[in-house]
Amino acid sequence: MNEYLTLAEASELIGKSKETLRRWDKEGKLSAVREPMSNYRVYRKQEVETLFATFYAKTIQESISNYVEPENEYSVLELFAGAGGLAVGMEKAGLKCVALNEIDKWACQTLRINRPKWDVLEGDIKDFDFSEYHNKVDVVTGGFPCQAFSYAGKKLGLADARGTLFYEFARVVSEVNPPICIGENVRGLLSHENGKTLQGMISILDEIGYKVVPVQVLKAINYKVPQKRERLILVGIRKDIDLEYEYPKPYKKIYNLVDALKKGDLFDTDVPKSEGAKYPKSKIDVLKLVPQKGYWRDLPLDIQKQFMGGSFFLGGGKTGIARRIGWDEPCLTLTCSPAQKQTERCHPEETRPFTVREYARIQTFPDDWKFEGSIAQQYKQIGNAVPVNLGREVGYSIIKFLNQYYSLSKPK
Ligand SMILES: C[S@@+](CC[C@H](N)C(=O)[O-])C[C@H]1O[C@@H](n2cnc3c(N)ncnc32)[C@H](O)[C@@H]1O
Repeated sequence: MNEYLTLAEASELIGKSKETLRRWDKEGKLSAVREPMSNYRVYRKQEVETLFATFYAKTIQESISNYVEPENEYSVLELFAGAGGLAVGMEKAGLKCVALNEIDKWACQTLRINRPKWDVLEGDIKDFDFSEYHNKVDVVTGGFPCQAFSYAGKKLGLADARGTLFYEFARVVSEVNPPICIGENVRGLLSHENGKTLQGMISILDEIGYKVVPVQVLKAINYKVPQKRERLILVGIRKDIDLEYEYPKPYKKIYNLVDALKKGDLFDTDVPKSEGAKYPKSKIDVLKLVPQKGYWRDLPLDIQKQFMGGSFFLGGGKTGIARRIGWDEPCLTLTCSPAQKQTERCHPEETRPFTVREYARIQTFPDDWKFEGSIAQQYKQIGNAVPVNLGREVGYSIIKFLNQYYSLSKPK
């Protein structure tokens, strides 16, 4: 793939004259570089696209809204709740969390300290019986960790999945019998075991009485999240309900790192100061050579080889390695540990990882949502979360479905 655009191509893409682009080059707004092979002056495609997106964003009149008011009080049972990204998002949408299950003690403390009234069920999901919620909960949600199944026959049944966390998710759905259930996972589930794992999950939900809506991977950047994170959503509708579920519609406006860390549309203030991890000196020495939006390829060749080690010869873009995020782009997906090897997401101006509160902002957690445990534990909880704003939009889609369901069946 060509990473560079000529002056003419850049001018056409962005709808500005070549003169303007030359002036921008002088002003440092969009700098040209020398194409490594031909030595012509060219523009980095990604930089031009981001600039184009910025212009485009300024002229966008957002006409989309997923907002919908709940016509009844709807309750959620949230499994694998972590630090509450999805739960807070659904709460913002107007759903009420009746109980949350989570095994990690620090994540449970996070949930309790922020929402003393939530019923946090701490422990292994396998040890809990949820039949007390039978027909009392409107939606069961959960980001079950993905595990392989062992396949005996052609079609996987619930019993075959025993021992996996998806089995537990399905068991709870079956015990609780909600009108709708939502699983969330990583995009990789689509290709896990060549798609067999996902097919197995769909056939298990079918067996327990739920029809799965065609699976979609939602891009967080389309839902007011300044991060290129993706989440696979698995929606099951109880088979006696003849209603369509609609995924939340994507917004046109894309938010960038600046929107996460500075006062603006997403937050009323600049990001509060907080503790954060540090890079070792050897990494600082390398990363300080990388410009905003740059990555390992922007380093001198000898340092590239030294930094990348064996990976240098493996090919592929690996654009997430030694990456410094730019203010005017969405952040790359945050991981559970900000200083981990080969997934550096360096602050745009300072040579350091994002602090805990910056991490939380990029995941759209509100500033008053506290995280418990050591700094490493806090990063892990944040990195594991569904971005709150994405959770809120999924929440609206659930409310829309439940409003229709209850207006048809009037069981309340
Ligand atoms: C991807 S995270 C969920 C993130 C959460 N949905 C959020 O938005 O913040 C998965 C969670 O499942 C929890 N978990 C893993 N095994 C579990 C088990 N056996 N019982 C209960 N929770 C478990 C992990 O501790 C982790 O917090």
